[in-house]
Amino acid sequence: MQNIRNFAIIAHIDHGKSTLADRLLELTGTIEKRKMQEQFLDTMELERERGITIKLQPVRMMYRLSKDQSPKSKVEVPGFSHSTLDFSQEYVLNLIDTPGHVDFTYEVSRSLAAVEGVILLVDATQGVQAQTLANLVLAQKLKLAIIPVINKIDLPNARVKEVEEEIFNLLGVGPDEILKISAKTGEGVKEVLEAVIERVPPAPTGDGEFRALIFDSVFDTYKGVIAFVRVFGGSLKAGDEIKLFAAKEKGEALEVGYFSPKLQKNQELTSGEIGYVATGIKLPQKVRVGDTIMKSNSSAIALPGYQDPLLVVFASFYPEDSDQFDDLKDALGKLKLTDASLSFEPESSPALGRGFRLGFLGLLHIEIISERLKREFGLGLIISSPTVEYEMTLKKGQAIKIRSANQVPDPTFIEKIREPISLLNIITPLAYLGSVMKLIGEIRSSYKETNYLSKEIVRLVYEVPLSEIITDFYDRLKSVSSGYASMSYEPTGYNEADLIRLDILIAGDKVEPFSKIVPRDQAERVGRAMVEKLKDVIPQQLFAVSLQAAVGGPSTGSGHGKIIARETIKARRKDVTGYLYGGDVTRKKKLLEKQKRGKERMKEEGGVNIPQKVFLEMLKK
Ligand code: GTP
Repeated sequence: MQNIRNFAIIAHIDHGKSTLADRLLELTGTIEKRKMQEQFLDTMELERERGITIKLQPVRMMYRLSKDQSPKSKVEVPGFSHSTLDFSQEYVLNLIDTPGHVDFTYEVSRSLAAVEGVILLVDATQGVQAQTLANLVLAQKLKLAIIPVINKIDLPNARVKEVEEEIFNLLGVGPDEILKISAKTGEGVKEVLEAVIERVPPAPTGDGEFRALIFDSVFDTYKGVIAFVRVFGGSLKAGDEIKLFAAKEKGEALEVGYFSPKLQKNQELTSGEIGYVATGIKLPQKVRVGDTIMKSNSSAIALPGYQDPLLVVFASFYPEDSDQFDDLKDALGKLKLTDASLSFEPESSPALGRGFRLGFLGLLHIEIISERLKREFGLGLIISSPTVEYEMTLKKGQAIKIRSANQVPDPTFIEKIREPISLLNIITPLAYLGSVMKLIGEIRSSYKETNYLSKEIVRLVYEVPLSEIITDFYDRLKSVSSGYASMSYEPTGYNEADLIRLDILIAGDKVEPFSKIVPRDQAERVGRAMVEKLKDVIPQQLFAVSLQAAVGGPSTGSGHGKIIARETIKARRKDVTGYLYGGDVTRKKKLLEKQKRGKERMKEEGGVNIPQKVFLEMLKK
């Protein structure tokens, strides 16, 4: 049967992938219209609340071409002719909806390894943006069929002609091949389905040994790890003995099926299909994305897996309540199941006790994980300043990797420091070029090239230290360009740099989570900005609290380096004398005396109360 089409929708963030998926689900009758809710495939509470897709989501749809339907597309697809279109049978369309944010590219790349084609969706008001380009490059590398679609043509400010030109410059395809739709009203959506059938090569079917690539997984208490797979040959029935190639783990396919989008049990899973296998395996770490599932007696070789995701930023998470270390450990284990890119290792700190050092794909990823730990597991957390991974050579010749400012040895031991560098791609309308370049002028960068995607749209390429763009650069870029400029980046290597550890002391004590690694010549500015911000975000205490920034101090112990900035949070004074009237000065003095002693005691015993939201605020630079 040549009737399976596997495809993904890729786009820049907010260009309408989930909305188009909604319409496709309706049109194919996969979801009844009355049960439809917007962005149906975004199932996580956080996804719905923020209106962003975080996880890839597969769904199977069935579609029958109507007899009188002549192919709309005038496109000739190599090796495929319209005359082979079959009007007598239903087509199986396996769609994977993907996230658009740069932090979740790993979800996109895993989805793309499971399909033969993509819908490249471009917002008619925004045009081609950085993630459009980055995701397109991924699809091109895999030689997938690409169907360009311009969305949101219902909007009055749609710039269909210009966007056609931008797409032409990218793909060399003319207006005839570009579909124009409104995912909101449904206009043109039927043509998208037909184009998928006409232009995406049929998934190769055939016998041979069963091999399935794991591209995602979830955990079920009864059925064990449920692997989401793309089958590349053979078939598998419930009850068949299976093995995981790389993990060398055996199990039984307790259940197989497809996504409706809920898990829908089926007799068997055959070549070309996207579906799931309930493995019965209870240890989540045994079922890894990228591994191949085979029958237990198979001698076939494994499918090419995935490259490990590139973790670009690291942060320490400590439970606010130190008794919750084990809870945090459990929670991270569970999150890892739905987020293959999450990585963590135990760490301990003299001040904070036991916690974990986590690796992330970007700042939004940190936010999402901390939010999920709080919501889904009720954990209060202390989160350190995020940092990239540095390489240091010590005077004794030893090379070390540093993923936390607190691991930085005393400056006297360090020979040289190298920091990760990346290529930054910015796409901006010409109108914002000036303000975007001004913004880039504020970070360390070296200019590489400029090219025009159309008369109005410019692409700028710079080489920048990764640390400059992982924090709030994206938000600043959006704000200087009224939301129109966009960025993507690609780590490229390491360069030597003059860096130093910056510590923050609160009431004279170093607060480890706030330590950072910064360029030496920026230490003072960053330190000043941090103490000023802390002054705003730490609630007043009953006593005055000093805030200091210091550099060059020892990594451990109570000593600190040179103080380069300071601020004081004034005491919140409870008006203990308020109820006294008249001029009984001695009594008033006595009360104030008493209050002062109380404060001294609190200062010693309780320290300064830093609520969790302060750590989250400080994450945003
Ligand atoms: P991410 O997954 O977060 O990258 O977003 P997405 O690409 O899935 O976009 P989504 O479907 O969430 O749509 C983003 C916004 O655009 C939503 O507010 C949609 O209602 C709106 N939208 C999507 N398609 C159309 C359209 O054709 N016309 C109009 N007017 N709005 C649309």
